Amino acid sequence: MSFPETRLRRFRRTPALRRIVRETRLSLDNLALPLFVCPGEGVARPVGSMPGVHQHSVDRLVETVKEACAEGIRSVLLFGLPETKDAVGSAAWSPDGIVQRAMRALTQEVPGLIKIADVCFCEYTDHGHCGVLHGNEVDNDATLENLARQSVSLAEAGADVIAPSDMMDGRVGAIRKALDAAGHASTPILSYAVKFASGFYGPFREAAESAPQFGDRRGYQMDPANGREALREAEADVEEGADMLMVKPALPYLDVLAALRQRFDLPLAAYHVSGEYSMLKAAAERGWIDYDRVMMESLIAIRRAGADLIFTYAAREAARLLASGWAE
Ligand code: PBG
Repeated sequence: MSFPETRLRRFRRTPALRRIVRETRLSLDNLALPLFVCPGEGVARPVGSMPGVHQHSVDRLVETVKEACAEGIRSVLLFGLPETKDAVGSAAWSPDGIVQRAMRALTQEVPGLIKIADVCFCEYTDHGHCGVLHGNEVDNDATLENLARQSVSLAEAGADVIAPSDMMDGRVGAIRKALDAAGHASTPILSYAVKFASGFYGPFREAAESAPQFGDRRGYQMDPANGREALREAEADVEEGADMLMVKPALPYLDVLAALRQRFDLPLAAYHVSGEYSMLKAAAERGWIDYDRVMMESLIAIRRAGADLIFTYAAREAARLLASGWAE
């Protein structure tokens, strides 16, 4: 059957007709809000490169998370700005570290919240790379031990999900083993399995104060040109015991996300990263795009490609729009 018998416009005529044939939906359960926690008290410092995003001290973080929860947010991802940095990033596994303190405060003050901990060293090392250096290179195997320590420390502090973003080989297995040995066999690992060496992280490095002091991350993060290798990365993490896989960034890599959706039965996450967010804000400031519309279109596209969970700085804005019936 073809035209004129078939007319695809028939189900597009009214909002109600469009609703019954809608294939993909965005709900509050699909949203996770990344947050930056810094030392001090009463601090809510705006991040210049990311309009609407702040670095919060623990007290202000708790307030913000309470507001976000009232809007329907159920999951947060925490990044820390430590008091001190050193060559190995030891502040990352201190029981009194900045994210550990935030985890404990949130456990007390916001019961039921899903607290996801980003596990990586770039915010904690004085050179800004994601692990221990050996000469000018990040030493994979020496970093594994520290990732395991950081993960156990965060789980002890109350993290519900451990999310390694460092891209060392073998880290999921090393973290799983350490968590199990420390009595955290029920804590899931959400692996940033497919993380590309991306210019779209630019604005984040101001927010997290984590820019590498020399070179770049191409020695450990993936080449944007590689799709098949992405499947190998994911496969390796599945074998090592990952409970959920992430693709990052999101919009420029929807093909990779869709390929993972086809190949694996694990839940999938995607990270709509700082650059993706800030470009929308910048274009909207100039009046070039309708921010709400383009932001929601981006999130539904990420869902359509296969993501169950979307990390986005726009999570609260999206939650408010969903509550206002925007998607209807
Ligand atoms: C840490 C990390 C980064 C992001 C998340 N975790 C930065 C990087 O790898 O340079 C980027 C997030 C974003 O851009 O929003 N390794």
